[in-house]
Amino acid sequence: MPRIVIAIDGYSSCGKSTTAKAVASQMGYGYIDTGAMYRAVSLFFLQEHVALSNSREVIAALDNIHIAFKHNNRTGKNETCLNGLNVEEEIRKMYISNIVSEVSAIPEVRWAMVAQQQKMGRRRGVVMDGRDIGTKVFPNAEVKVFMTADVYIRAKRRQQELLAKGEMINLEDIIQNLEKRDLIDTTRAESPLVQAPDAILLDTSHMTIEEQVEWVIELADRRL
Ligand code: C5P
Repeated sequence: MPRIVIAIDGYSSCGKSTTAKAVASQMGYGYIDTGAMYRAVSLFFLQEHVALSNSREVIAALDNIHIAFKHNNRTGKNETCLNGLNVEEEIRKMYISNIVSEVSAIPEVRWAMVAQQQKMGRRRGVVMDGRDIGTKVFPNAEVKVFMTADVYIRAKRRQQELLAKGEMINLEDIIQNLEKRDLIDTTRAESPLVQAPDAILLDTSHMTIEEQVEWVIELADRRL
């Protein structure tokens, strides 16, 4: 059976990661959460007080960042590691969500991350979710999905996720964050979030995760 690349792009909090993870697990594929990589870079820049407008500082900092995904056998989950440290929980917090789109709009940051993502998926057999996977990272991906959903429904889902981790954020703040990220992501000069011409649109507003997973797997089956 040929191993393909499944690219899942779309707006923030549409269920991309949860769906991508489950599809990868059912197909025996690898899963790469590219948003986690931009979140880890944002955390590092904050910790090191990197001035985002100073490209020399940005480039020097990028040289000192090593991002890896490690499987935790105890929890059964993948963890994002930044320079050997597990930052999985930290990068999901709201203070990172509030700066990540600014960081990921910096061209040097994108060039570095895209190169790493292409390396991670070079053997194919991978599900990758993000904003530019089907347009920039793997423009030749066999399956391309572009996810969207009503912003209120997305914010509600995000609020539940944060609450489950003990972070209580009001809905208005989450809606504002999602809208701001979507705006920055869709209007940046370097590989903006846009539906690839050959990507299939999936509105997840009224779909369960199980339905989303089944939908993507059916699409993948037709391409295999
Ligand atoms: O997927 P997640 O919402 O965790 O991504 C966080 C942010 O990282 C996005 O809002 C976007 O600004 C950025 N991102 C990106 N390109 C990707 C993945 C994420 O610019 N491929």
